[in-house]
Amino acid sequence: MMMRGHLFRDDTESSLQQEHLIEFAYIIQLYLDCLKKQQETKLKKLREAQENLPISKYQNEILRAVENNQVVLVAGDTGCGKSTQVPQYLMAAGYGSIACTQPRRIACISLCKKSCL
Ligand SMILES: Nc1ncnc2c1ncn2[C@@H]1O[C@H](COP(=O)(O)OP(=O)(O)OP(=O)(O)O)[C@@H](O)[C@H]1O
Ligand SMILES: [Mg+2]
Repeated sequence: MMMRGHLFRDDTESSLQQEHLIEFAYIIQLYLDCLKKQQETKLKKLREAQENLPISKYQNEILRAVENNQVVLVAGDTGCGKSTQVPQYLMAAGYGSIACTQPRRIACISLCKKSCL
């Protein structure tokens, strides 16, 4: 009788633990879904910002110029997207070994941070 009582208590505890585990897994799943949504929103905003940069209209033209010439100079207003976008256009087009230089250490760090977002 005592043994049955003991077993009964164990069963209840283990089913409670299982319920907690299921609830915990559900909460973790909700948290992960939320993180994913946040990242998607962030990425969507970044893509929109990239498309709104003046240089984005010239993506194909730049790629064609690079394909057909040994040296290409791209001139554009400050902030039009030369440093952050051109390396990405080249990478997306399949070019490797892309180097991007900056005149100052701080500009280099800032560009690197921006491009990694
Ligand atoms: N570290 C940063 N943080 C936030 N926004 C940035 C950062 N770096 C660049 N940007 C944004 O990205 C846009 C494109 O910058 P990018 O450095 O590619 O321009 P650029 O054409 O190379 O300018 P410049 O002629 O001054 O070198 C800028 O308009 C700016 O708003
Ligand atoms: Mg630049």
